[in-house]
Amino acid sequence: MSARPLGIALIGHGYWGPNLLRNYMELSEPEVKWVCDLRPEQLAKVGARFPGIQLTEDYSEVFADPAVDAVLVATPISTHHAIAKAALEAGKHVFVEKPMTSDPGDARELIDLAAAKSLTLMVGHTFVFSPPVRKVKELIEAGALGDIYFITTQRVNLGLHQKDVSVIWDLAPHDLSILYYWLDEHACAVSVYGRGCIVPEIPDVAFINLKFPSGVVAEIQVSWLSPVKLRRTIVVGSKKMLVYDDTENVEKVKIFDHGVDFKDPSDYSEFQLSYRTGDIVAPKISGAEPLCLEAQHFMHSIADGQRPITSGEQGLQVVSSLEAAEASLRAGGAEMPIDPPSCTI
Ligand SMILES: NC(=O)c1ccc[n+]([C@@H]2O[C@H](COP(=O)([O-])OP(=O)(O)OC[C@H]3O[C@@H](n4cnc5c(N)ncnc54)[C@H](O)[C@@H]3O)[C@@H](O)[C@H]2O)c1
Repeated sequence: MSARPLGIALIGHGYWGPNLLRNYMELSEPEVKWVCDLRPEQLAKVGARFPGIQLTEDYSEVFADPAVDAVLVATPISTHHAIAKAALEAGKHVFVEKPMTSDPGDARELIDLAAAKSLTLMVGHTFVFSPPVRKVKELIEAGALGDIYFITTQRVNLGLHQKDVSVIWDLAPHDLSILYYWLDEHACAVSVYGRGCIVPEIPDVAFINLKFPSGVVAEIQVSWLSPVKLRRTIVVGSKKMLVYDDTENVEKVKIFDHGVDFKDPSDYSEFQLSYRTGDIVAPKISGAEPLCLEAQHFMHSIADGQRPITSGEQGLQVVSSLEAAEASLRAGGAEMPIDPPSCTI
Protein backbone atom coordinates (compact mmCIF):
# COMPACT_ATOMS: atom_id res chain seq x y z
CA MET A 1 0.00 0.00 0.00
CA SER A 2 1.28 3.50 -0.85
CA ALA A 3 2.21 6.01 1.86
CA ARG A 4 -0.36 8.58 0.68
CA PRO A 5 -3.73 8.72 2.48
CA LEU A 6 -6.42 6.41 1.17
CA GLY A 7 -8.61 8.14 -1.45
CA ILE A 8 -12.35 7.70 -0.89
CA ALA A 9 -15.34 8.35 -3.17
CA LEU A 10 -19.00 8.40 -2.20
CA ILE A 11 -21.63 7.35 -4.73
CA GLY A 12 -25.11 8.47 -3.67
CA HIS A 13 -25.65 11.60 -1.59
CA GLY A 14 -29.36 11.31 -0.81
CA TYR A 15 -30.71 10.70 2.69
CA TRP A 16 -28.02 8.35 4.05
CA GLY A 17 -24.93 9.32 2.02
CA PRO A 18 -24.38 12.60 3.94
CA ASN A 19 -24.02 10.60 7.17
CA LEU A 20 -21.27 8.49 5.61
CA LEU A 21 -19.61 11.60 4.17
CA ARG A 22 -19.57 13.40 7.53
CA ASN A 23 -17.98 10.42 9.27
CA TYR A 24 -15.28 9.92 6.63
CA MET A 25 -14.53 13.67 6.64
CA GLU A 26 -14.00 13.44 10.40
CA LEU A 27 -11.51 10.55 10.18
CA SER A 28 -7.92 11.73 10.18
CA GLU A 29 -6.50 9.24 7.69
CA PRO A 30 -8.50 8.97 4.44
CA GLU A 31 -9.17 11.79 2.00
CA VAL A 32 -12.59 12.09 0.37
CA LYS A 33 -11.79 12.82 -3.29
CA TRP A 34 -15.17 12.58 -5.02
CA VAL A 35 -18.91 12.63 -4.41
CA CYS A 36 -21.15 11.38 -7.21
CA ASP A 37 -24.92 11.72 -7.46
CA LEU A 38 -27.36 11.84 -10.36
CA ARG A 39 -29.02 14.91 -8.84
CA PRO A 40 -27.09 18.20 -9.28
CA GLU A 41 -28.89 19.74 -6.31
CA GLN A 42 -27.45 17.04 -4.04
CA LEU A 43 -23.96 17.72 -5.39
CA ALA A 44 -24.41 21.45 -4.84
CA LYS A 45 -24.92 20.79 -1.12
CA VAL A 46 -21.56 18.98 -0.98
CA GLY A 47 -19.85 21.75 -2.94
CA ALA A 48 -21.14 24.41 -0.56
CA ARG A 49 -19.94 22.55 2.53
CA PHE A 50 -16.74 20.84 1.28
CA PRO A 51 -15.31 22.86 -1.66
CA GLY A 52 -12.24 20.59 -1.97
CA ILE A 53 -14.26 17.54 -3.04
CA GLN A 54 -14.66 16.85 -6.77
CA LEU A 55 -18.28 16.41 -7.91
CA THR A 56 -19.78 14.39 -10.74
CA GLU A 57 -23.02 12.83 -11.96
CA ASP A 58 -21.15 9.97 -13.66
CA TYR A 59 -19.52 7.31 -11.51
CA SER A 60 -17.29 6.05 -14.34
CA GLU A 61 -15.32 9.30 -13.96
CA VAL A 62 -14.70 8.40 -10.31
CA PHE A 63 -13.68 4.82 -11.04
CA ALA A 64 -11.18 6.01 -13.70
CA ASP A 65 -9.31 8.12 -11.12
CA PRO A 66 -6.22 6.29 -9.79
CA ALA A 67 -6.32 8.50 -6.68
CA VAL A 68 -9.50 6.69 -5.59
CA ASP A 69 -8.75 3.54 -3.59
CA ALA A 70 -12.14 2.83 -2.03
CA VAL A 71 -15.76 3.52 -2.92
CA LEU A 72 -18.79 3.91 -0.65
CA VAL A 73 -22.09 2.98 -2.32
CA ALA A 74 -25.17 4.65 -0.80
CA THR A 75 -27.59 4.53 -3.72
CA PRO A 76 -30.98 2.73 -3.91
CA ILE A 77 -30.80 -1.06 -3.44
CA SER A 78 -31.58 -1.92 -7.06
CA THR A 79 -28.39 -0.11 -8.16
CA HIS A 80 -25.95 -1.60 -5.60
CA HIS A 81 -24.86 -4.57 -7.70
CA ALA A 82 -24.05 -2.65 -10.90
CA ILE A 83 -22.19 0.16 -9.10
CA ALA A 84 -20.26 -2.13 -6.73
CA LYS A 85 -19.34 -4.44 -9.61
CA ALA A 86 -18.03 -1.55 -11.73
CA ALA A 87 -15.99 -0.29 -8.75
CA LEU A 88 -14.46 -3.71 -8.06
CA GLU A 89 -13.68 -4.19 -11.74
CA ALA A 90 -11.85 -0.84 -11.63
CA GLY A 91 -9.75 -2.20 -8.73
CA LYS A 92 -11.42 -0.24 -5.89
CA HIS A 93 -12.26 -1.55 -2.42
CA VAL A 94 -16.02 -1.36 -1.86
CA PHE A 95 -18.29 -0.51 1.03
CA VAL A 96 -21.89 -1.08 -0.01
CA GLU A 97 -24.92 -0.06 2.01
CA LYS A 98 -27.42 -2.57 3.33
CA PRO A 99 -28.98 -4.66 1.93
CA MET A 100 -25.97 -5.63 -0.15
CA THR A 101 -27.96 -6.45 -3.33
CA SER A 102 -31.53 -7.26 -4.29
CA ASP A 103 -30.60 -10.79 -5.34
CA PRO A 104 -28.38 -13.47 -3.71
CA GLY A 105 -26.75 -14.39 -7.05
CA ASP A 106 -25.60 -10.78 -7.46
CA ALA A 107 -24.18 -10.77 -3.93
CA ARG A 108 -22.25 -13.99 -4.62
CA GLU A 109 -20.85 -12.44 -7.82
CA LEU A 110 -19.52 -9.43 -5.87
CA ILE A 111 -17.94 -11.71 -3.22
CA ASP A 112 -16.18 -13.76 -5.90
CA LEU A 113 -15.04 -10.66 -7.79
CA ALA A 114 -13.60 -9.05 -4.65
CA ALA A 115 -11.82 -12.29 -3.73
CA ALA A 116 -10.38 -12.70 -7.23
CA LYS A 117 -8.98 -9.17 -7.12
CA SER A 118 -7.91 -9.30 -3.43
CA LEU A 119 -10.11 -6.30 -2.66
CA THR A 120 -12.03 -5.55 0.53
CA LEU A 121 -15.81 -5.85 0.29
CA MET A 122 -17.80 -4.65 3.28
CA VAL A 123 -21.56 -4.23 3.83
CA GLY A 124 -23.21 -1.39 5.79
CA HIS A 125 -24.75 -3.44 8.59
CA THR A 126 -24.30 -0.43 10.85
CA PHE A 127 -25.86 -1.89 13.99
CA VAL A 128 -23.10 -4.50 14.23
CA PHE A 129 -20.89 -1.51 15.17
CA SER A 130 -23.31 -0.10 17.70
CA PRO A 131 -21.94 -0.25 21.29
CA PRO A 132 -25.16 -1.69 22.84
CA VAL A 133 -25.26 -4.41 20.19
CA ARG A 134 -21.58 -5.13 20.91
CA LYS A 135 -22.36 -5.29 24.65
CA VAL A 136 -25.11 -7.87 24.09
CA LYS A 137 -22.73 -9.92 21.93
CA GLU A 138 -20.17 -9.86 24.77
CA LEU A 139 -22.82 -11.01 27.28
CA ILE A 140 -24.02 -13.84 25.04
CA GLU A 141 -20.46 -14.98 24.31
CA ALA A 142 -19.52 -14.90 28.00
CA GLY A 143 -22.52 -17.14 28.76
CA ALA A 144 -24.09 -14.49 31.03
CA LEU A 145 -27.56 -15.23 29.65
CA GLY A 146 -27.09 -19.03 29.51
CA ASP A 147 -28.46 -20.87 26.48
CA ILE A 148 -30.50 -18.53 24.31
CA TYR A 149 -34.13 -19.71 24.07
CA PHE A 150 -35.63 -17.03 21.83
CA ILE A 151 -35.39 -13.40 20.66
CA THR A 152 -38.16 -10.97 19.74
CA THR A 153 -37.52 -7.61 18.15
CA GLN A 154 -39.63 -4.64 17.09
CA ARG A 155 -38.56 -1.98 14.60
CA VAL A 156 -41.67 0.11 13.95
CA ASN A 157 -42.52 3.79 13.57
CA LEU A 158 -44.43 6.11 11.25
CA GLY A 159 -41.68 5.57 8.69
CA LEU A 160 -41.03 6.77 5.17
CA HIS A 161 -42.81 4.47 2.67
CA GLN A 162 -40.23 3.37 0.09
CA LYS A 163 -41.27 3.39 -3.57
CA ASP A 164 -39.32 0.37 -4.75
CA VAL A 165 -38.93 -2.05 -1.81
CA SER A 166 -41.07 -3.54 0.94
CA VAL A 167 -40.57 -2.82 4.62
CA ILE A 168 -38.82 -6.21 4.82
CA TRP A 169 -35.99 -5.12 2.52
CA ASP A 170 -35.84 -1.67 4.09
CA LEU A 171 -35.81 -2.45 7.83
CA ALA A 172 -35.24 -6.18 8.42
CA PRO A 173 -31.56 -6.13 7.27
CA HIS A 174 -30.78 -4.37 10.56
CA ASP A 175 -32.37 -7.05 12.74
CA LEU A 176 -31.15 -9.97 10.66
CA SER A 177 -27.57 -8.71 10.77
CA ILE A 178 -27.81 -8.13 14.53
CA LEU A 179 -29.25 -11.60 15.20
CA TYR A 180 -26.69 -13.34 12.96
CA TYR A 181 -23.87 -11.44 14.67
CA TRP A 182 -25.13 -12.26 18.16
CA LEU A 183 -25.89 -15.92 17.52
CA ASP A 184 -22.96 -16.68 15.20
CA GLU A 185 -25.33 -18.61 12.97
CA HIS A 186 -27.92 -17.70 10.41
CA ALA A 187 -31.54 -18.76 10.25
CA CYS A 188 -32.36 -21.92 8.33
CA ALA A 189 -36.08 -21.22 7.76
CA VAL A 190 -38.48 -18.29 7.73
CA SER A 191 -42.22 -17.80 7.81
CA VAL A 192 -43.78 -14.36 7.29
CA TYR A 193 -47.18 -12.73 7.54
CA GLY A 194 -47.64 -9.14 6.44
CA ARG A 195 -49.55 -6.82 4.15
CA GLY A 196 -49.44 -3.59 2.23
CA CYS A 197 -51.89 -1.43 4.14
CA ILE A 198 -51.34 1.83 2.24
CA VAL A 199 -49.96 0.70 -1.14
CA PRO A 200 -51.30 -2.86 -1.56
CA GLU A 201 -48.36 -4.12 -3.64
CA ILE A 202 -45.69 -2.78 -1.22
CA PRO A 203 -45.89 -4.53 2.19
CA ASP A 204 -45.55 -1.97 5.01
CA VAL A 205 -45.93 -4.36 7.96
CA ALA A 206 -44.39 -7.82 8.40
CA PHE A 207 -44.05 -10.39 11.17
CA ILE A 208 -40.97 -12.43 10.35
CA ASN A 209 -40.50 -15.73 12.20
CA LEU A 210 -37.12 -17.41 12.06
CA LYS A 211 -35.76 -20.81 13.05
CA PHE A 212 -32.05 -21.34 13.74
CA PRO A 213 -30.08 -24.60 13.52
CA SER A 214 -29.30 -24.39 17.29
CA GLY A 215 -33.01 -24.41 18.13
CA VAL A 216 -33.25 -20.66 18.83
CA VAL A 217 -36.43 -19.11 17.46
CA ALA A 218 -36.88 -15.40 16.73
CA GLU A 219 -39.54 -12.98 15.61
CA ILE A 220 -38.83 -9.68 13.88
CA GLN A 221 -41.65 -7.13 13.61
CA VAL A 222 -41.08 -4.39 11.05
CA SER A 223 -43.47 -1.64 10.04
CA TRP A 224 -43.67 1.88 8.64
CA LEU A 225 -47.07 2.25 10.33
CA SER A 226 -46.96 2.74 14.06
CA PRO A 227 -48.01 5.62 16.32
CA VAL A 228 -44.81 5.24 18.34
CA LYS A 229 -41.21 4.49 17.49
CA LEU A 230 -40.09 1.16 18.95
CA ARG A 231 -36.59 -0.24 18.58
CA ARG A 232 -36.83 -2.92 21.22
CA THR A 233 -35.33 -6.39 21.42
CA ILE A 234 -35.85 -9.02 24.12
CA VAL A 235 -33.39 -11.87 24.49
CA VAL A 236 -34.48 -14.73 26.73
CA GLY A 237 -31.83 -17.12 27.98
CA SER A 238 -31.76 -20.02 30.41
CA LYS A 239 -29.89 -17.96 33.05
CA LYS A 240 -30.96 -14.36 32.46
CA MET A 241 -33.08 -12.19 30.20
CA LEU A 242 -32.23 -8.92 28.52
CA VAL A 243 -33.95 -5.91 26.97
CA TYR A 244 -32.11 -3.80 24.39
CA ASP A 245 -34.01 -0.58 23.70
CA ASP A 246 -32.25 1.63 21.18
CA THR A 247 -34.63 4.53 21.82
CA GLU A 248 -33.37 4.86 25.42
CA ASN A 249 -30.79 7.60 25.90
CA VAL A 250 -28.72 6.01 28.65
CA GLU A 251 -29.83 2.55 29.78
CA LYS A 252 -30.07 0.95 26.35
CA VAL A 253 -29.38 -2.54 27.69
CA LYS A 254 -30.96 -3.97 30.84
CA ILE A 255 -30.14 -7.42 32.15
CA PHE A 256 -32.83 -9.09 34.24
CA ASP A 257 -31.84 -11.81 36.67
CA HIS A 258 -35.23 -13.36 36.01
CA GLY A 259 -36.02 -16.91 35.07
CA VAL A 260 -37.97 -20.05 35.63
CA ASP A 261 -36.32 -23.27 36.77
CA PHE A 262 -37.82 -26.64 36.16
CA LYS A 263 -36.99 -29.20 38.81
CA ASP A 264 -36.96 -32.80 37.66
CA PRO A 265 -39.97 -34.41 39.38
CA SER A 266 -39.12 -37.17 41.85
CA ASP A 267 -42.45 -38.82 41.07
CA TYR A 268 -45.14 -38.30 38.44
CA SER A 269 -47.47 -36.35 40.74
CA GLU A 270 -44.87 -33.64 41.29
CA PHE A 271 -44.40 -30.78 38.79
CA GLN A 272 -42.33 -27.95 40.19
CA LEU A 273 -41.36 -24.67 38.65
CA SER A 274 -39.48 -22.07 40.64
CA TYR A 275 -39.69 -18.42 39.52
CA ARG A 276 -36.82 -16.04 40.07
CA THR A 277 -37.07 -12.23 39.89
CA GLY A 278 -33.73 -10.84 40.96
CA ASP A 279 -31.72 -7.72 40.18
CA ILE A 280 -31.97 -5.60 37.05
CA VAL A 281 -28.60 -4.27 35.90
CA ALA A 282 -27.87 -1.67 33.19
CA PRO A 283 -24.23 -2.05 32.11
CA LYS A 284 -22.17 1.01 31.17
CA ILE A 285 -22.06 1.39 27.40
CA SER A 286 -19.81 3.59 25.29
CA GLY A 287 -21.47 6.50 23.49
CA ALA A 288 -19.32 6.10 20.36
CA GLU A 289 -21.10 6.67 17.04
CA PRO A 290 -21.65 3.36 15.18
CA LEU A 291 -21.01 4.99 11.78
CA CYS A 292 -17.62 6.26 12.92
CA LEU A 293 -16.68 2.78 14.20
CA GLU A 294 -17.94 1.29 10.93
CA ALA A 295 -15.82 3.72 8.87
CA GLN A 296 -12.73 2.95 10.98
CA HIS A 297 -13.35 -0.78 10.55
CA PHE A 298 -13.50 -0.39 6.75
CA MET A 299 -10.20 1.52 6.78
CA HIS A 300 -8.52 -1.09 9.04
CA SER A 301 -9.86 -3.99 6.97
CA ILE A 302 -8.33 -2.46 3.83
CA ALA A 303 -5.02 -1.75 5.58
CA ASP A 304 -4.73 -5.25 7.14
CA GLY A 305 -6.27 -7.18 4.25
CA GLN A 306 -8.58 -8.83 6.83
CA ARG A 307 -12.17 -9.84 6.07
CA PRO A 308 -14.50 -7.23 7.66
CA ILE A 309 -16.97 -8.36 10.34
CA THR A 310 -19.80 -7.26 8.08
CA SER A 311 -18.31 -9.06 5.12
CA GLY A 312 -19.84 -9.81 1.73
CA GLU A 313 -20.67 -13.28 3.11
CA GLN A 314 -22.70 -11.74 5.93
CA GLY A 315 -24.35 -9.48 3.35
CA LEU A 316 -25.25 -12.54 1.25
CA GLN A 317 -26.78 -14.34 4.25
CA VAL A 318 -28.97 -11.32 4.95
CA VAL A 319 -30.00 -11.01 1.28
CA SER A 320 -30.81 -14.76 1.11
CA SER A 321 -32.94 -14.38 4.24
CA LEU A 322 -34.77 -11.36 2.81
CA GLU A 323 -35.49 -13.20 -0.42
CA ALA A 324 -36.87 -16.23 1.49
CA ALA A 325 -38.91 -13.91 3.72
CA GLU A 326 -40.53 -12.21 0.71
CA ALA A 327 -41.24 -15.63 -0.85
CA SER A 328 -42.93 -16.78 2.37
CA LEU A 329 -45.03 -13.61 2.50
CA ARG A 330 -46.16 -14.14 -1.09
CA ALA A 331 -46.97 -17.78 -0.26
CA GLY A 332 -49.28 -16.73 2.58
CA GLY A 333 -46.81 -17.43 5.39
CA ALA A 334 -45.53 -20.82 4.22
CA GLU A 335 -42.21 -21.82 5.79
CA MET A 336 -39.31 -21.29 3.38
CA PRO A 337 -35.77 -22.66 3.74
CA ILE A 338 -32.99 -20.09 3.68
CA ASP A 339 -30.00 -20.63 1.40
CA PRO A 340 -27.11 -21.22 1.60
CA PRO A 341 -27.89 -23.84 4.28
CA SER A 342 -24.34 -24.69 5.28
CA CYS A 343 -22.92 -21.13 5.44
CA THR A 344 -21.26 -20.03 8.67
CA ILE A 345 -20.50 -16.44 9.59
N1 LIG B 1 -27.03 1.71 7.37
C1 LIG B 1 -28.14 2.36 7.66
O1 LIG B 1 -28.54 2.49 8.83
C2 LIG B 1 -28.96 2.95 6.54
C3 LIG B 1 -29.97 3.89 6.81
C4 LIG B 1 -30.69 4.42 5.74
C5 LIG B 1 -30.42 3.99 4.44
N2 LIG B 1 -29.47 3.06 4.23
C6 LIG B 1 -29.19 2.56 2.87
O2 LIG B 1 -28.55 3.58 2.12
C7 LIG B 1 -28.88 3.41 0.73
C8 LIG B 1 -29.43 4.73 0.22
O3 LIG B 1 -30.62 5.03 0.88
P1 LIG B 1 -31.19 6.52 0.95
O4 LIG B 1 -32.34 6.48 1.88
O5 LIG B 1 -30.09 7.48 1.16
O6 LIG B 1 -31.74 6.69 -0.56
P2 LIG B 1 -31.99 8.08 -1.31
O7 LIG B 1 -32.91 7.74 -2.45
O8 LIG B 1 -32.37 9.15 -0.36
O9 LIG B 1 -30.56 8.46 -1.89
C9 LIG B 1 -29.93 7.74 -2.91
C10 LIG B 1 -29.14 8.72 -3.77
O10 LIG B 1 -28.44 7.95 -4.76
C11 LIG B 1 -28.48 8.70 -5.98
N3 LIG B 1 -28.27 7.79 -7.09
C12 LIG B 1 -29.11 6.85 -7.58
N4 LIG B 1 -28.55 6.20 -8.63
C13 LIG B 1 -27.31 6.74 -8.78
C14 LIG B 1 -26.26 6.49 -9.70
N5 LIG B 1 -26.35 5.58 -10.65
N6 LIG B 1 -25.14 7.25 -9.59
C15 LIG B 1 -25.03 8.19 -8.64
N7 LIG B 1 -26.01 8.49 -7.75
C16 LIG B 1 -27.13 7.76 -7.82
C17 LIG B 1 -29.83 9.37 -5.98
O11 LIG B 1 -29.85 10.50 -6.82
C18 LIG B 1 -30.02 9.73 -4.51
O12 LIG B 1 -29.58 11.04 -4.22
C19 LIG B 1 -29.88 2.26 0.66
O13 LIG B 1 -29.20 1.09 0.37
C20 LIG B 1 -30.42 2.19 2.08
O14 LIG B 1 -30.89 0.89 2.42
C21 LIG B 1 -28.72 2.56 5.24
